[in-house]
Amino acid sequence: MCGIVGYIGKEEAAPILLDGLEKLEYRGYDSAGIAVYNGTDIKITKTKGRLKFLAEATNEGLSMPGTLGIGHTRWATHGAPSDINSHPHANESGTIAVVHNGIIENYLFLKDYLMKKGYNFVSDTDTEVVAHLLDHYVKKYGEILEAVVHLMNRVEGSYALGIIVKENPDEIIAVRKDSPLIVGLSPEGNFIASDIPAILKYTRDIYLLEDREIVRLSRDGVTVYDVFKEPIIKEITHIDWDITAAEKGGYEHFMFKEILEQPKALKDTISPRIHNGEVVIEEMKMTDEEIKNLKKIYIVACGSAYHAGAVGKYVIEDMARIPVEIDIASEFRYRNPIFEKDSLAIIISQSGETADTLAALREAKKNGVKTLAIVNVVGSSIARDADNVLYTWAGPEIAVATTKAYSTQVSALYLIGLLFAKKRGTIEDSLYKETVKELVSLPDKVASLLKDFDKIQNFAAKKQNAKDIFFLGRGVDYATALEGSLKLKEISYIHSEAYAAGELKHGTISLIEEGTLVVSLATQENLFNKMLSNIKEVRTRGAVIMAIALEGNTEIEKEADFVLYVPKVLGNLAPSLSVIPLQLFSYYIAVGKGCDVDKPRNLAKSVTVE
Ligand code: G6P
Repeated sequence: MCGIVGYIGKEEAAPILLDGLEKLEYRGYDSAGIAVYNGTDIKITKTKGRLKFLAEATNEGLSMPGTLGIGHTRWATHGAPSDINSHPHANESGTIAVVHNGIIENYLFLKDYLMKKGYNFVSDTDTEVVAHLLDHYVKKYGEILEAVVHLMNRVEGSYALGIIVKENPDEIIAVRKDSPLIVGLSPEGNFIASDIPAILKYTRDIYLLEDREIVRLSRDGVTVYDVFKEPIIKEITHIDWDITAAEKGGYEHFMFKEILEQPKALKDTISPRIHNGEVVIEEMKMTDEEIKNLKKIYIVACGSAYHAGAVGKYVIEDMARIPVEIDIASEFRYRNPIFEKDSLAIIISQSGETADTLAALREAKKNGVKTLAIVNVVGSSIARDADNVLYTWAGPEIAVATTKAYSTQVSALYLIGLLFAKKRGTIEDSLYKETVKELVSLPDKVASLLKDFDKIQNFAAKKQNAKDIFFLGRGVDYATALEGSLKLKEISYIHSEAYAAGELKHGTISLIEEGTLVVSLATQENLFNKMLSNIKEVRTRGAVIMAIALEGNTEIEKEADFVLYVPKVLGNLAPSLSVIPLQLFSYYIAVGKGCDVDKPRNLAKSVTVE
């Protein structure tokens, strides 16, 4: 949420900042701004709206000369999107400029304190207090590093900050707490950024900053300090993935490109963990004894990662016979959960930076519960904090609506379910072998679903004016329905809800009218007849049925108006296949409606505020 970038070096800063912000726009895109030191003064340009307005306002950065600068792309929390509320924010004399990601929770208290001291505020943001407080402390203590340390002692909440000061024309200062920030190192200059893709074009050598670390970047070096201003030796992380992985590569939308990347993402996530037909998760540090003794699993996540967890609950309980409690991270962290002995918290996150999910992980750890994180972004905060990490190898995901990361999260949960089931002796050997075999075949089966789009596209074209669309399913199909419904509403803005099929008649069925579309997932053979009854119930009331079923099932055609088939697969693994047509359906509806598919309104990909 909000993207930060900073550069100090031999090159012109503004074009580099704009380029970096473009890669970070997925984090927030309601306004953007840059501050550049031009040898005499700090110049700031900021604009409401997409980054292209900032690029226009600065003539692609050319109207802002200087080799030192910071930039920001915003997802508004305090104060509506506007030029004035955009970052960077400055002190009154314009000698200090600040970009911020996070929330300063005690900003009202600090604002009051500063106003009493005569400071005038121009914006509605929490960030502006940082600029004025730094001004106050620089005047008091005479230098910026000391001012930052004092600032850290005063502000409550989360922050990644990039700071430039006119009196220090050869450095950028940065600091983080509970918001992501990395440092990039190169002979041509040094960088700060919220995320790696922003600077990958310029360098592959980075420092992953820890909470409360302060960095001083100069043209030819970077020093990292602790809160006592003692220098810290940091290890360089070398990034070996390619920037093309984070670019559109000729596709109109990242989302479509990422949908098509799912076979590879699944293969990269599954294959390295299958050895001679056995699930082997080398990174798992849990002993066989610990796995056998597991009494309970908590799965905690947000958004689509939570929906992946919903699949995980059904699958792990079914195969490994361990009770699984699934929780939305923002609820889990505050609901005072009962932590049991011999339990495990599985924390799922694409970004590894979601504020609530990170807090939930820390809550579990604090209460003595072992943690296992399923994370996509290598070196992210959740990956670093968890006791065990199982990386999903989906590669960089840029579209705000997740597709390939979700799919790999589900596959990671299959791996965990199978491993636990085998170790605990809760699965018959023949079923274990068959499930592993089918798991390995998932990438090919997904690829077979990504060959012919016409049928879905045509059906989606007919439904793009729908007011409400409901999604129904039973068992793991219900979990997939949750994800299908979220995908649709987030990118097409069509109201949608997902229901466990048997539950609809307890109220929501009253919303079904003549012509209401009900997407019905019917991949579970043991539940098929029950599902068919539910389909009949809504159909009788006028619903139009789009069904997802396994190839060979002709029964469904009698009750559905439109059927999409997925290859035959074991019931537990069906979510990996049935989600694909749902992703495509949402995608084509959103494209048909002219929505900004990769950057839906009001959303951000990385939600680093709670
Ligand atoms: C945002 C994204 C979702 C994602 C959720 C959790 O809402 O738009 O696609 O599922 O955050 O993010 P995480 O990075 O923790 O998986």
